[in-house]
Amino acid sequence: MRRVPVSRLRPGDVVGVTIRNERGDILLREGVTLTAELIASLQRRRHFAVYVRDGIVDDVIPHDIVSERVRAVTIRHISDLFELGPSLNGESQPARKAVRLREHRIHRLVERVRADVDLILNEVLDRDTITGITALKSYDDYTFSHSVDVAVVAILIGRTLRLGRDELNQLALGSLLHDIGKMFIPEAILNKPGPLTDEEMATMQSHTVRGFQYLVEHEIGDFVANHIAFQHHERQDGTGYPRGLRGTNRLRRGQHDWFNRERIHPLAEIAAVADVYSALASDRPYRAAMAPEQVATVIRQMAGHHLNQEVVAAFALTIPVFPIGAPVRLEGGRYDGYQGVVVENRPGALDRPVVRLTSDAQGHLLEPDDFDTAFDPDCRLVTPPASLAAPLSAVG
Ligand SMILES: [Fe+2]
Ligand SMILES: [Fe+2]
Repeated sequence: MRRVPVSRLRPGDVVGVTIRNERGDILLREGVTLTAELIASLQRRRHFAVYVRDGIVDDVIPHDIVSERVRAVTIRHISDLFELGPSLNGESQPARKAVRLREHRIHRLVERVRADVDLILNEVLDRDTITGITALKSYDDYTFSHSVDVAVVAILIGRTLRLGRDELNQLALGSLLHDIGKMFIPEAILNKPGPLTDEEMATMQSHTVRGFQYLVEHEIGDFVANHIAFQHHERQDGTGYPRGLRGTNRLRRGQHDWFNRERIHPLAEIAAVADVYSALASDRPYRAAMAPEQVATVIRQMAGHHLNQEVVAAFALTIPVFPIGAPVRLEGGRYDGYQGVVVENRPGALDRPVVRLTSDAQGHLLEPDDFDTAFDPDCRLVTPPASLAAPLSAVG
């Protein structure tokens, strides 16, 4: 399958992977031939990209590490939690019964989210696949889909770091709910397609404190999980928010430092790396997703002052630079200028995947052939500019 920005779809293209809306319901099934109307409807529904069949890499299925079912159910529960809202708005003294009913609903949903955490943990820990983020998000389900991605990537990093099941559980729950405070932030600020004013920025940043307060008030997570929501925007050098806590750039700490209130909690530092990765690798209303090779570079550059160095090192050993299905161009080496699609990632060489070459340096189509870039130290992989999505505003 090939990932194609919605702006570049053509009538006649065939859907390669079933497309769902933000509630997990099917919009277009795998195998459907796109028409101009269907493409227009994808644009209206603010989808950024879809997978299509191209006859060359159709045997390569971009697998999401969590099943479609678990992802859809989890997204639904988190979005229901958001829908219940921060409080009973508009009533100065809401009836006791209404308050109790709302509390009851929140608790029922939280029980479901806890069950989702178990399902996600089981699926992720069961699979030996090496994968990055492949699930496609639409503009409207970003926060929820992003939450699942952050949980999955955090668990994968935690597995590399050999965390125990209890810690993985705290990490997964805290990551899934890290942005729950965004329910308090107006849509207009969350999705503003331009820079925020100082005041808007302060409101946006308050999602950390408000999320933490919400989690504590409703007894949703334990001490550590709630602190992941509180601390995921803190930075190693103390320039983050809301409290300007510092990190140690280490993970192997004594018991005292693991729970040091002056420091960022190590599990929040893992969630922070997963959060940055998911944000950079996703299309947003105001910018297209960054090219995968750029995401890897930016995260490496953030290590030390922003992100915990040891966590970033574990991340690099866990998440491949290019997801399966990513289009790439080879620069330097034997196949300089050739283009292809990533078909396999191997442990120990996560920046050097196997690429199916599809066209040569002059753009002539080739009989597709798989080439292991690990065997060519002179070749570098970059994303061809034509494969990146245009920002939504440019799509129209
Ligand atoms: Fe956040
Ligand atoms: Fe986030």
